[in-house]
Amino acid sequence: MNLRSFLHGRIEAAFEAAGVAGAEPMIGVATRPEFGDYQANGAMAAARTARTQPRKLAEGVVEALGDVDFAETLAVAGPGFVNITLSPAFVSAHLANVEIEPTLHPERIVVDYSAPNLAKEMHVGHLRTTIGDAMARILEALGHHVIRQNHVGDWGTQFGMLVAHLEDVQEAAPELKDLEVFYAQARRRFDSDNDFADRARRTVVALQRGDERVRAYWRRFIDISLAHCRSVYEILDITLGDEDLDAESRYNDDLPNVIADLESAGLVTVDDGAKCVFLDELETPLIVQKRDGGYLYATTDLASVRYRSEHYRADRILYFVDSRQSLHFRQLFAVARKAGFARETCKLEHHPFGAILGRDNRPFKTRSGDVVKLADLLDEAVRRARALVTERNPELDSEEADRIARVVGIGAVKYTDVSKHRASDYVFDWDAMLNFDGNTALYLQYAYARIRSLFRRGGIDPRCLTDAPAISNDTERRLGVSLLRFQETLEQAASEALPHYLTGYLHGLAGDFTRFYETCPVLNAPAPVRDHRLKLCALTGETLRKGLGLLGIGTVERM
Ligand code: ARG
Repeated sequence: MNLRSFLHGRIEAAFEAAGVAGAEPMIGVATRPEFGDYQANGAMAAARTARTQPRKLAEGVVEALGDVDFAETLAVAGPGFVNITLSPAFVSAHLANVEIEPTLHPERIVVDYSAPNLAKEMHVGHLRTTIGDAMARILEALGHHVIRQNHVGDWGTQFGMLVAHLEDVQEAAPELKDLEVFYAQARRRFDSDNDFADRARRTVVALQRGDERVRAYWRRFIDISLAHCRSVYEILDITLGDEDLDAESRYNDDLPNVIADLESAGLVTVDDGAKCVFLDELETPLIVQKRDGGYLYATTDLASVRYRSEHYRADRILYFVDSRQSLHFRQLFAVARKAGFARETCKLEHHPFGAILGRDNRPFKTRSGDVVKLADLLDEAVRRARALVTERNPELDSEEADRIARVVGIGAVKYTDVSKHRASDYVFDWDAMLNFDGNTALYLQYAYARIRSLFRRGGIDPRCLTDAPAISNDTERRLGVSLLRFQETLEQAASEALPHYLTGYLHGLAGDFTRFYETCPVLNAPAPVRDHRLKLCALTGETLRKGLGLLGIGTVERM
């Protein structure tokens, strides 16, 4: 159950019973143990309207609540907060079922994420694909119908240059093993050789016209590049498959219709030969067709909004894209609405993310100043994790060390990426992410492994512990409350598209577990208590595993 909504309902009703109708209480997780588990706020605002003292009003709320089964204490605090401490019996009863509850209002949600440009290799910035992937998993777990869309860049001028170069070097095409080198070679020729540059431009035109031969070369290039993406997704455990591809080229034939429809809606102004849409709510116009007739990124995106709204019948379209594209999305959404490309009930949302920086606070680069390839970065993560794992467990056989290193190394970089507020930039730091302490994957994976080893040592199968755990002290109670907060955390992460709520939650849960584990003996506890504590351990382990799983991060049985 969503504890926070439950409390909200109770407190709201109590306001009404206390004679204040329409009060909007806010229920926050208490920031200090002495504030209880949750703090209800709302008396201050309500007292202003009711012309009374907030503390008095809060007292009235507590009185109206009377003897409730959910709370052990309800205490008026500060200027008019109500501090809520949940009762052990209530916590215990609700721990009987901690399955994720599906939403009562499932929606069709398009999640647009990853979307690399296929001209080049995926770079460190594409690590942020993790955010969209985590959100897709969370929304799905909550019962929504998620439609993943990988809007890869496979169209446009760069591809003329690449195809022209491929035609010339075809014998040596295995060089394409390194897309980055291939791109650099083509680029160098384009910049220094006028004949080549002309041919590259003619090649784009031929490509867009559908010239068979050019298309075949282009296809070959795209296939190689997509194979590269596929391998990165596999290492990263990103849930994007070929069926989720929504390449820019998919919309090629629809682009003239987009322009024609914008024109018949009277939205197009020709400015210096280019077709533009000017809207009052936009500071700059959106160019939809260049003077040479070429279409743009925005034109394709307009076609794609329409497709998602009409064909997929999306209730929401979420774009997890770099914050530098904020203007693009503001323009896109405004024009799509105006032109009726998005149904009125279809919400359009850009959820921007920040950049990954080096220690110098500038975009993360290699020592020689090149972009950091994502594949190289992931290799390094696994290498570093392996060193760490074998240093602690020299007895591990090599195969198992490899397996653990992959889970730990990839988990470390992914966790770091989702644990920061989505919109902020962050500094990439190996030492901070591959650390057993702090808000890291390793800390959670270690807590999980510890729980698993406890069950191994006790020779117990956690699935045999079917009863809800009785609660016998406050440390257990706190851990129990923490376990119950999983649902509300997922719902909050989903509604704000901020997966770092989940990492923050898991970190807190692991902390509560550690406190419990350090002060409450488990295997050595007397009879009924032992099983109750084992059950708390089992529930914690399950929640850590599920929570990490929703972030696309694995766990191991020992480490
Ligand atoms: N391919 C684009 C880029 O690399 C990102 C596409 C994001 N999605 C979208 N529908 N515009 O910048």
